[in-house]
Amino acid sequence: MDRNLALEFVRVTEAAALASGRWVGRGDKNSADDAAVTAMRSAFQSIDFDGLVVIGEGEMDEAPMLYIGEKVGRGNGPRIDIACDPLEGTTITANGGSEAIACIAAAARGGFLAAPDMYMEKLAVGPLARGAIDITKSATWNIQEVARAVGKSVEDLMVIILDRPRHAGLIAEVRATGARIRLISDGDVSAAVATAQPESGVDVMMGSGGAPEGVIAAAALRCLGGDMQTKLLFSSPEELERAKTMGITDQNKIYHLEDMARGHVMFVATGVTNGSFLSGVRYSGRGAFTHSIVMRSETGTVREIRTRHYFDRKPRYGW
Ligand code: FBP
Repeated sequence: MDRNLALEFVRVTEAAALASGRWVGRGDKNSADDAAVTAMRSAFQSIDFDGLVVIGEGEMDEAPMLYIGEKVGRGNGPRIDIACDPLEGTTITANGGSEAIACIAAAARGGFLAAPDMYMEKLAVGPLARGAIDITKSATWNIQEVARAVGKSVEDLMVIILDRPRHAGLIAEVRATGARIRLISDGDVSAAVATAQPESGVDVMMGSGGAPEGVIAAAALRCLGGDMQTKLLFSSPEELERAKTMGITDQNKIYHLEDMARGHVMFVATGVTNGSFLSGVRYSGRGAFTHSIVMRSETGTVREIRTRHYFDRKPRYGW
């Protein structure tokens, strides 16, 4: 995959962040999301590539833009599959909270698991704990193994879990091990990426969240050398049927990183609100500042990009 595309995609996540950043704290998650989607789609159209959305805003009949199967880009370059979340953390944005990002993962055609919009159990760790996890075993077992792998006592580990009633049992089990927990209101892509960012202080992410977000996080962890295992959680016969139409036949399959994001992949994200590894959008009189991260699995290079935007001198995508 052309490495320059990763840098082109930064413009796309910047556009989504700049647009949704206008909605921070305004209590309207749908408008924040619409702004991000519209901006991301417009920005994609300025790039020379033949893009296909495989993870996006939903099915064609439920999403007007960036729906699964939509073509993006100018159509004249490399054939690339796109897994995108124009605003990961819609409620966070509406509440002015932390860790909302605009993000894109890219792979060669067929590189991503076509994950249905349903829950997925997730277990993610950074590079030091790569190979030390097993989602079929208990949370206690995994915490002990991760502690051994990263060379910390269990009491020094930080486990990140979405604060949901469905996680009450998991939270109790993790507390019983003595490990520390950071409960988050939303945003498990950021949380998974944080496990592989040494300065984040997060060691493990556990619990269930959206399957599309799981695939995007898998791409990031491929680039960062972390590890992740997942399992789809079917809650109805309809979900099972839908998964079958998307090519998923084994409902008990454990997905490893390469099952979710194969070959050379890229991950690009721009902060919408402040978070553990990205700053949020800051507006100035004439424009705004953004903070983005760009990574590729081929080389493992991670770039941070801080951009000054001047709104009177560039195309605007709704901000
Ligand atoms: P949105 O950006 O669509 O609001 O999703 C945020 C999120 O917290 C994801 O990070 C996570 O995977 C999912 O929602 C969890 O779903 P639920 O809120 O149903 O527990």
